[in-house]
Amino acid sequence: MESLWLLLCVSGALGYFSPDEVLSLPGLSTRLNFRQWSGYLQAAPGNHLHYWFVTSQKDPATDPLLLWLNGGPGCSSLDGFLSENGPLHVKDDGSTLYINQYSWNKVANVLYLESPAGVGFSYADDKIYATNDNEVAENNYLALQDFFNKFPNFRRNDFYVIGESYGGIYTPTLSLTIMNGAANINLKGFGVGNGLSSTYYNDQSLVYFAYYHGLIGPTLWADLNRFCCSGEVCNFFNNSEYSCQASVEEVFMIVYDSGLNVYSLYLNCAGGVKRYPRFLQDIKNLFQFYQFEGLKTADKPRNLAPPCINDTAQWTWLNRADVRTALHIPEKVQAWEICSKVVSENYQRIYSNMDNFYHQLLSMGLRVLVYNGDTDMACNFLGEHWFVQSLNLEKTVDYQPWICNNQIAGFYEQYKNLTFLTVKGAGHMVPQWAPRQALKMFESFISNSPY
Ligand SMILES: *[C@@H]1O[C@H](CO)[C@@H](O)[C@H](O)[C@H]1NC(C)=O
Ligand SMILES: *[C@@H]1O[C@H](CO)[C@@H](O)[C@H](O)[C@H]1NC(C)=O
Ligand SMILES: *[C@@H]1O[C@H](CO)[C@@H](O)[C@H](O)[C@H]1NC(C)=O
Repeated sequence: MESLWLLLCVSGALGYFSPDEVLSLPGLSTRLNFRQWSGYLQAAPGNHLHYWFVTSQKDPATDPLLLWLNGGPGCSSLDGFLSENGPLHVKDDGSTLYINQYSWNKVANVLYLESPAGVGFSYADDKIYATNDNEVAENNYLALQDFFNKFPNFRRNDFYVIGESYGGIYTPTLSLTIMNGAANINLKGFGVGNGLSSTYYNDQSLVYFAYYHGLIGPTLWADLNRFCCSGEVCNFFNNSEYSCQASVEEVFMIVYDSGLNVYSLYLNCAGGVKRYPRFLQDIKNLFQFYQFEGLKTADKPRNLAPPCINDTAQWTWLNRADVRTALHIPEKVQAWEICSKVVSENYQRIYSNMDNFYHQLLSMGLRVLVYNGDTDMACNFLGEHWFVQSLNLEKTVDYQPWICNNQIAGFYEQYKNLTFLTVKGAGHMVPQWAPRQALKMFESFISNSPY
């Protein structure tokens, strides 16, 4: 009895004895060479964030620990797990899992967190889902502390946070909260993939991206130049001229609402050409200075599944009763959706430019990776590049190609501890659409070795 108790205590301290451990998963027949846990982390009182944690396939004890965050706001990091950089992906049938050979847990322990409450399987007891950038950072910080209480042996590992899309806000805000906080967290750096770091640079660059990718004809381009520019200087972002706004609206409708896949210009749009009213929601944030007429007549979206993205397989698998049981999701918790309408609709954005966060975090000695799939239009590479350049950092490596599998995988440049990097031909979800390149990039980042 005593030795059993000792065994439980020891394995408990290692984080290896936990009711959260996932021992089998519906649709999976292969034996796995890593361990995994799924359950809840406590954020603010009554606020329960669902996590899914997988250990490294290499050396869990010494490999780094990564927190991965998808964006939205309101979208689930389980999309990151099941279709981007996680070890298990779902087949089209919605019932079979297969191994992703380019999973980021080949080289790191990875924690997927569904945040904020209301997203995916995360929930609040009071079901009030209005939140904002600062509160999200605070809740993610609390959840992380709970994670390290559950898994204390991972405190020693180097820790990184990487966020995609609106994760461009979540990641620097959480990183600064960690650096200024009292909890003992070994944060070494952060990364942002196709992030929203500046609404100004994002919106301003999109017009050029669209023109130089052949999406705008000569008539509209001439109008944009006539109505939005004076001399060499163009303002597509918050121009007060009505005719400029009308021309920018035409660009916006082509990019977002014509049947193009906004997340990946050269991929097809699942569902084909039709109107996708998803962005009705976001209009107050995207080109926030303009009241686009066309959007006023658009249908109200029923849910916030991103247009042209087919999440049927993930949705089907995650909403099976046996999968919920295997992942320790209580019955009272809502069905899983890739993006939560209630969270998105009630979200208050506070930061429209992350420059102050970057300056502070770099001065604290963190390593930073800003990467962009270069065919994404939701958060296009040019806007992120302009944002990085606006930080006025000292450049140490000039813009040049990086290589993967004996091919040019994209381009990068370095400013001491900050790297800006593109992934050639990949869209918004880089690890999904360029998995091999993404894994190499991630490995270079965490090992601080050349790209
Ligand atoms: C989405 O994927 C499922 C398979 O998971 C398929 O049956 C369905 O036809 C696809 N829908 C669209 C719109 O492409
Ligand atoms: C337009 O945006 C720029 C860049 O953010 C800002 O400096 C300027 O004050 C804004 N002008 C108006 C009229 O809002
Ligand atoms: C870069 O980061 C390292 C730690 O990773 C730190 O020691 C160094 O001071 C940083 N360099 C700069 C220029 O901030």
